[in-house]
Amino acid sequence: MTTLRSQKPIPTSGGLKGRLRVPGDKSISHRALIMGALAVGETTIAGLLEGEDVLGTAACLQALGADIYKDDQDCWHVHGVGIGGLRPPENVLDMGNSGTGVRLMMGLLATHPLTATFSGDASLSKRPMGRVVTPLTLFGAHFHGRDGNMLPITVTGATMPLPVSYELPVASAQVKSAIMLAALNTPGVTTVIENTPTRDHTERMFEYFGVSLDLQPLEGGTGRRIKVTGQPELVARDLKVPTDPSSAAFAIVAALITPDSELTIEHVGLNPARIGLFTTLQDMGADITYANKREECGEPVADIVVRTSALKGVTVPPERAPSMIDEYPVLCVAAAAATGQTVMRGLEELRVKESDRIAVMVTGLKACGVQVEEHEDGMTVSGNPDRPVIGGACVETHLDHRIAMSFLMLGLISDAPIDVDDGSVINTSFPNFVTLMNGLGTNISIM
Ligand code: S3P
Repeated sequence: MTTLRSQKPIPTSGGLKGRLRVPGDKSISHRALIMGALAVGETTIAGLLEGEDVLGTAACLQALGADIYKDDQDCWHVHGVGIGGLRPPENVLDMGNSGTGVRLMMGLLATHPLTATFSGDASLSKRPMGRVVTPLTLFGAHFHGRDGNMLPITVTGATMPLPVSYELPVASAQVKSAIMLAALNTPGVTTVIENTPTRDHTERMFEYFGVSLDLQPLEGGTGRRIKVTGQPELVARDLKVPTDPSSAAFAIVAALITPDSELTIEHVGLNPARIGLFTTLQDMGADITYANKREECGEPVADIVVRTSALKGVTVPPERAPSMIDEYPVLCVAAAAATGQTVMRGLEELRVKESDRIAVMVTGLKACGVQVEEHEDGMTVSGNPDRPVIGGACVETHLDHRIAMSFLMLGLISDAPIDVDDGSVINTSFPNFVTLMNGLGTNISIM
């Protein structure tokens, strides 16, 4: 455990200033490695997130027979085995802290005729896997998990997979993607019906690798029907991963709440299904602009310019939740610095992330003297810039990287320092977080 302490920047430093590049997008990095491992030939990946979660997926794919290595220019090379070509692993596949890693890999292996066991850390072992087990069983796969559908879990993939039609009962890109990956080695057409749009990185990545998809909007709603024709010919590709908007979020909120700040964050992925936080912050009065908009490997990308802003509380539309699901912890920090109430509802899914993010945020905010009310499906934070955040607490992070980073950002505006009990978990998604943020003017130290 590494205790980290965050305190107000030294006043003479003059706010957070500079240009920065946060690490590669976590969702896209997992998918790039997986698709590369399935395509025959060499896929190269520049800008891969080298966080523990993604390195865990790389190790898992290597254990299943893919050849993956990094060259001295930090470019990753993946030599794929072809769809259906993965071989049985010799050992348990340890997926660490990564819900995305384990759920996508469960999907992939559900239609390979082999047996594999997945394990994870204390956080991942508490998370529900039934949401992927149920649809993947329809393909003909068998799962045996602890207490039903928890890790460790053993999958025996289908020898003769059957195509599936499945309507998602929860808005989850992980579940959608697990089904789509299982469909790749299944003859015929698999259909996923998504009533609430979630991040569509898998759809974009499939198309980039040459899988033709049939995407139909659902009548009278915002969702769509996704049809995947199985056993396509994948084309190995060169990829450039955009940086992660979920990681950029911490720097953006830091600049908004720290006086005299201006940051430019380069090459950030702006997939419309990921930028709900930026829209919400703009609704709150944030000075956030996009420069140099472009497209990279099928994903929209831009540089983000952000300046200190006087924020006001808002009610976040619940239907926006899937597009900012990982950003509510850091939104709570912006809300604590804003004038008035910020109401966040419709967030049942936050209770089954790396931690129960509603309970953990509420406990930590209260310990730091922030006024917050817990709801079954969210929280309401009341901010008042004239009543400073007291701080002086050590917040328990419960193996949750985004809780750790969020409270370190709250330390920027608290009277007394804020500690997080375990900063090492930040390495799952943002390995150089402390160095990068301190380079911009934050004051985070190891205790
Ligand atoms: C992810 C989907 C989301 C998100 C997670 C990454 C993905 O999870 O919270 O960090 O890469 O598909 P859910 O699908 O559970 O909403």
